[in-house]
Amino acid sequence: MPSLLDQLTAALAGAFAACGLDPALGVVRESDRPELCAFQCNGAFAAAKAARRPPKEVAEAVAAALIDSDTVQNVSVAGPGFINFDASRIAISSALAAQDNARCGVPATGAGTIIVDYGGPNPAKAMHAGHLRTTLIGDALKRIFAFAGYRALGNTHLNDLGLPMGQIISEYAARHPEWPYFDPAFTGPYPAEAPFTYAELEEIYPQAAQACKDDPARRNLARQAAVDLQEGRPGYRALWGHLMRLSKADAKRNFDSLGVSFELWRGEADVHGLIPGIGRDLKGRGLAVESEGALVVPVVEAGDTRPMPPLMYYKSDGAATYGTTDVATLCDRAQTYPDLVRAVYVADRRQALHFEQVFRTARLAGYADGVDLTFVGYGTMNGPDGRPFKTRSGGLPRFDDIVAETLERARARLAEAGLRGDEALARQIMMATLKFADLVNPPAADYVFDPERMTAFEGKTGPYVLYQAVRAGAILEKAGSAGALGPLGVDETPLALTLAAWPEAFAQALAAPSPHPVAAQAYRVAQAFSRFYGACPVLSEADPATRAARLALVARTRAQITLALSLLGIYVPKQM
Ligand code: ARG
Repeated sequence: MPSLLDQLTAALAGAFAACGLDPALGVVRESDRPELCAFQCNGAFAAAKAARRPPKEVAEAVAAALIDSDTVQNVSVAGPGFINFDASRIAISSALAAQDNARCGVPATGAGTIIVDYGGPNPAKAMHAGHLRTTLIGDALKRIFAFAGYRALGNTHLNDLGLPMGQIISEYAARHPEWPYFDPAFTGPYPAEAPFTYAELEEIYPQAAQACKDDPARRNLARQAAVDLQEGRPGYRALWGHLMRLSKADAKRNFDSLGVSFELWRGEADVHGLIPGIGRDLKGRGLAVESEGALVVPVVEAGDTRPMPPLMYYKSDGAATYGTTDVATLCDRAQTYPDLVRAVYVADRRQALHFEQVFRTARLAGYADGVDLTFVGYGTMNGPDGRPFKTRSGGLPRFDDIVAETLERARARLAEAGLRGDEALARQIMMATLKFADLVNPPAADYVFDPERMTAFEGKTGPYVLYQAVRAGAILEKAGSAGALGPLGVDETPLALTLAAWPEAFAQALAAPSPHPVAAQAYRVAQAFSRFYGACPVLSEADPATRAARLALVARTRAQITLALSLLGIYVPKQM
């Protein structure tokens, strides 16, 4: 069953054809001026050009051809040739009738595997506001792809073999030369317990990094330690094993706090063995060239308007880079999943150049043929003053601090509402708050972290949308059964019209790809429902047919908000 927009487009196409014009120009979209009409078509301009007639005349001819349509109504021509109209109530009802409650009319047509690379922490470093953003955006994208029918796999990519690891190992070597990990004669077994806690690791990392900055000798030791680690020196591998276990447990604790999980925890170490072979292949085919002792892959393309430096495969000291490991990771993904259709990377938008270099290298070498490579860059989380959100000490706020602060606010909100002490509910509100506030914006946009505003039950917030779904659920529960959709009255029509827009909202999210059209749709439905409920008695309605029809709309509302929120990783509580 076609969506409402599909039906309208078919009607416009028919009218264009009836006027001897190209039916493909009958494209319909939501109106820029919803106070005048719900939809518009601007195809008269192109049609007029082709037919060498004034656009207004063409628009009027099309409008006249629509007079008897069952699908559109209130057709008018505005300005130089805009065709404005509403959907008929019959068209709205039939589009809505075709939406089942489980999928709200969206078929699962996707096929193949999609890997979404998101949340990637840096071992031994505290996860920060940026990791929170990639975690939320990536998790929602994964859910959206899965809903569309793809096998969607989330990978939290671990940058686990680079220089930072060498910095930490050499720092411990300086502090604890007596540890068996540093004794080349030690034959094991190494201790099963880590000699440090995760908190100590988080503390030592910045000190180690600083020491390397200040002292070239330390820097060399760190580089050498990283190389030895990569080559598998047993003591270093054992120490690193502790570090990785603790780091993964910490990352998991953060992800769990938001109900986020991953199918894959593969990182740089898992593809380390592929690096030499890929390097030889790139070099052998002339795609990689020597440059000042380094091996680089030139990726400039005709038409580049910005400087495009080559991808650095091996630095002059022979070390692999962030680019090297991402090329190897992509090769590995394409080989491991022969049905891979897309790889999506959610990372700070300042990494755009890095991913462009990686994607171009893979394309040049044919490492991921047939795989759509997508970078989704996220913007900065700002404080209520509109400036990048920083802690008092000037660093980025920690992931877990943001979660804790929002949870605290959510508890306070519940206390205000007389629901003190419901910890599970407070967590649900916290998640709805954080996820909705982030996901209602396009990922690349900066957004303001303001827990005071974001947890409010009014306004464009997660709790507001949740609250409308809970309200709808309460009405349905009291009523017992939902009833069948009926004819739409004037007060029911705006809600029905909003509900009918779901297939397009979802299609937009998938095409972008971005969760924000889904979040925006959930909010629109919540608002339309709130207005509907203000204008239309439901449980107290005396006429049984009207009551049943309104209940059916309440059920659709509940189903659609629940579905949209679930794609954002937000679950609707029973009450709030
Ligand atoms: N760990 C990186 C960071 O904190 C993000 C990793 C993104 N994924 C990737 N395959 N490079 O910015």
